[in-house]
Amino acid sequence: MNHFIRPEQRPSWQVLQALADAPMLHLRDLLQDSSRNASLQFEAAGIQADASRQRVTPAVMQALLKLAEDSQVLPQAQAMFKGEAINTTEHRPVLHMALRGDHVASPPWGAAITADVQRELTRFTNFAERLRHGEVHGFKGQAITDVVNLGIGGSDLGPRMATEALGQLSANLKAPAVRVHYVSNVDPWCLATTLAPLDASRTLFIVQSKTFTTQETLTLAASAKRWLQDAGCSGAQLPQQLVAVTAKPGLAQADGFLADHCFVFWDWVGGRYSVWSAIGLPLAIAIGRDAFLQMLAGGQAMDQHVMHTPPERNLPLLMALWGVWNRNFLGATTHHVAPYAAPLGRFVPFLQQMDMESNGKRVHVDGSIASVGTSPVLWGGLGIDGQHAYFQLLHQGQHLVPMDFIGVRQGHAGLPLAAEHQRVVLLNLQAQTQALALGRSVADTVQMLRDSGMAEAQAQALAPHRSFAGNVPSTVLWLEQLTPHSLGALIALYEHKVFCQAAMWGVHAYDQWGVELGKTMAKAMETGH
Ligand code: F6P
Repeated sequence: MNHFIRPEQRPSWQVLQALADAPMLHLRDLLQDSSRNASLQFEAAGIQADASRQRVTPAVMQALLKLAEDSQVLPQAQAMFKGEAINTTEHRPVLHMALRGDHVASPPWGAAITADVQRELTRFTNFAERLRHGEVHGFKGQAITDVVNLGIGGSDLGPRMATEALGQLSANLKAPAVRVHYVSNVDPWCLATTLAPLDASRTLFIVQSKTFTTQETLTLAASAKRWLQDAGCSGAQLPQQLVAVTAKPGLAQADGFLADHCFVFWDWVGGRYSVWSAIGLPLAIAIGRDAFLQMLAGGQAMDQHVMHTPPERNLPLLMALWGVWNRNFLGATTHHVAPYAAPLGRFVPFLQQMDMESNGKRVHVDGSIASVGTSPVLWGGLGIDGQHAYFQLLHQGQHLVPMDFIGVRQGHAGLPLAAEHQRVVLLNLQAQTQALALGRSVADTVQMLRDSGMAEAQAQALAPHRSFAGNVPSTVLWLEQLTPHSLGALIALYEHKVFCQAAMWGVHAYDQWGVELGKTMAKAMETGH
């Protein structure tokens, strides 16, 4: 990459500023133009995106695409694919894309990495299959029925989110062969309540930690070992019921984990990008190898899209650009994600780590203080529930909150009453996007109240309370069905979006020094130094 130019000094940034300063039509007027709306429909790896409710005009889109060019997003992506150490503060390449399998002929990151990935993928998915087939036994010789994952952050959020999203579907609502539980929080309540109903002789623990130094995880692991021993598991039998997933297998083995119960990934995989690696082991146990590979294939399909689609149709890049427009030019300091599919209930916490641990930075790559906004506060949750809680603020509060809606067209075929419930879910999604975009003026509200028979004075008094500014920008991402493939594509879509935004903001997306100070202080308080 050439000499770093601060975002606000790039010519396109100034063009965008001028466009943002000029008067612009309200979304309710922009949406009248059907050819504009049609030009804002996109498709990537089976995901359809309706961006007609973004507050963009052709001139804005053109300037945003120029910003991507001025920011050298493409050359930066190529440097990443080639395995250059773009994570310069940790001197590491960033290659989570290589985890998605051997889909790229002559991969730019080199065949050796692909071979390592394939070997480990085979190892941990074989283990998952053996478990699912009752071939892994506990200390009384019976098959393992419960797996408890101990890990936090990237060693929890991805596999937990995906297990919740896909686990029930693949089991078709029947009890799974092996139940998978997740404990991330060292609060004793979490481990105690998870373990209370379990049979120690049929429970296996997966200790997931990239660094194998995370205090909370190691504390949980020590307690898990004690729980097994208290239930009669001898010291010799103990390692059979423990598995480690880590980038530091030496540390795990020094801690008593067997070499063939250690699954590895590499320091070129950020924790928040690691669901594709052996960190996905609990997920592979929950959904099976074939479904896990399907999720990788969904990620691959999005990689192919991002690598081979021109910028003006490149969905992750476009989502990044709309985000920059909303954040830096329309002044939105938060961004809301609302899935309208209950199995995606943990998608937002997962995205929060991916987005905010990556781009929640205040210095540029050259060490200078950023004077443009970087990652907005990402928040959200299931849309149906949010509608009856915090959506009030989205509709009538003082914050401009751009939104991503995630909809699933065919939800839960085969469940009792599925069609009627799904109809209500989708109706609400569509109504919310439209209400947030169009709003309702005071004049229209007065008229509506008059029409309902209300006296003029009362209608005038009530109208300000019952009117809506609207003009809330949103994108709807449509999945045809929630499957391992579509979930993989969705995750990779957001991963690439985060990369593109970092490239435009000129921040390092792949370090996380901000989490260190608190950790160091906890250690210092513990040791008294
Ligand atoms: O403290 C933040 C963090 O380092 C995350 O980046 C990471 O995903 C999480 O903690 C867990 O780290 P580890 O996998 O090394 O235990």
